[in-house]
Amino acid sequence: MAKTPARPAPRRTAFLTTVFRKRLMAFSGIVFMVYLLLHMYGNTHYFEGEIAFDHYSYWLRTLLQPLLPYSGLLWILRVVLLACLVIHAGCAFDLWLRNRRARGSDRYAVKKPGADYFASRYAMRTMRWGGVILLLFIIFHILQLTTLHITPGGHYEHGRAYMNMYYGFQLWWVWLVYAVALVALCLHVWHGVWSALQTLGAVRGTTIPFIRLVAFVVAFALFIGFLTVPTAILLGLTEPPMDAVEYATRAAEAGIGSSH
Ligand code: HEM
Repeated sequence: MAKTPARPAPRRTAFLTTVFRKRLMAFSGIVFMVYLLLHMYGNTHYFEGEIAFDHYSYWLRTLLQPLLPYSGLLWILRVVLLACLVIHAGCAFDLWLRNRRARGSDRYAVKKPGADYFASRYAMRTMRWGGVILLLFIIFHILQLTTLHITPGGHYEHGRAYMNMYYGFQLWWVWLVYAVALVALCLHVWHGVWSALQTLGAVRGTTIPFIRLVAFVVAFALFIGFLTVPTAILLGLTEPPMDAVEYATRAAEAGIGSSH
């Protein structure tokens, strides 16, 4: 009897490979990190006072006008960031599912718990839970400071970013929410930079100490840089916001428009 030819193994497109997903995670993570470094730097304008800070926020919305409409560039940035977030979290979830499926029957096998085993399990768990905390934080953060649906500490106003932050960070628990999120961010970035550079092939014997240092410096800089402004506000080291009349005059002098 003629033998039936062996069925060819299903071809996996490059799209579906684990390596491709890890690369997508690395690229989207890097885009996010560049955004965060710029965001952190932007926040330091807070120390220049209310008009300077709100002017910076207004400038972000009027960039490339009239080529783009009001807030045009900001909307492009939002779409890019959202796409990166969906790709990053989607790939992470998918890789976790694959990992679980692959371990399936092996789940009850005796593991050899060496130091490396515990270190990598710890890092993986931190990444997973850190990622979930960050996702929840981003939702809270946008509802508080962009859409102003959550307004702890007072009445917020569109266009008065300085005042909104000032009232928010008078409350210790708001500061704590940010501090916890920033710890999660710091740990996530610390391990994430390392993982991303490994995926992209930059980690080799001689580069390891340097890459470890870069990962630590970036993570720590984000933590300190972001936490400085909320801490200064909580400790009463920044000027309170102006009253409505004075603000209207000073904002008009600085050319801060009112459309939002
Ligand atoms: C102490 C830390 C932070 C402060 C004080 C802060 C402050 C702000 C403010 C004032 C805005 C609104 C800007 C505007 O509408 O003009 C904003 C927007 C935003 N922030 Fe933060 N931020 C902090 C940390 C973070 C972190 C850690 C992330 C991400 C993990 C983040 C992601 C975003 C995003 C995605 C937006 C929305 C941009 C938009 O659509 O307008 N921020 N932030």
